[in-house]
Amino acid sequence: MREGFKTILKFLEDDVASEVEQERLYNKFALAAQNTSVQTLFNNLSRSARGHRDAMDKLIKNIAQDDHNVILYCTLCGWGVDFGKSPFVGNEERCPVCCQKFALVETDGDFSLKPLPQ
Ligand SMILES: [Fe+2]
Repeated sequence: MREGFKTILKFLEDDVASEVEQERLYNKFALAAQNTSVQTLFNNLSRSARGHRDAMDKLIKNIAQDDHNVILYCTLCGWGVDFGKSPFVGNEERCPVCCQKFALVETDGDFSLKPLPQ
């Protein structure tokens, strides 16, 4: 597992657990519903939760396999600063909008930006 994604992975794993629970509840509600339109509603909600879970599982997998660009928001203008896939701490990139130069740093398992002199 790559370093630098500690908090993001924690949020994604929590969200996956939430979607799994929602899917379980929607399926339960669909089975208990007396009205077919209500059953359809809960079946659709269940399918939606499963889709969200699958998307987050894919993102977690991509991060684990280094198949995910590391893009952090510029601390000056808010644009994305793209360090590409599998960057190393200390790599340097410029914001494509304001041209501020940054170094990629890691603090407590999370990537962040360190502004560099121009
Ligand atoms: Fe910027």
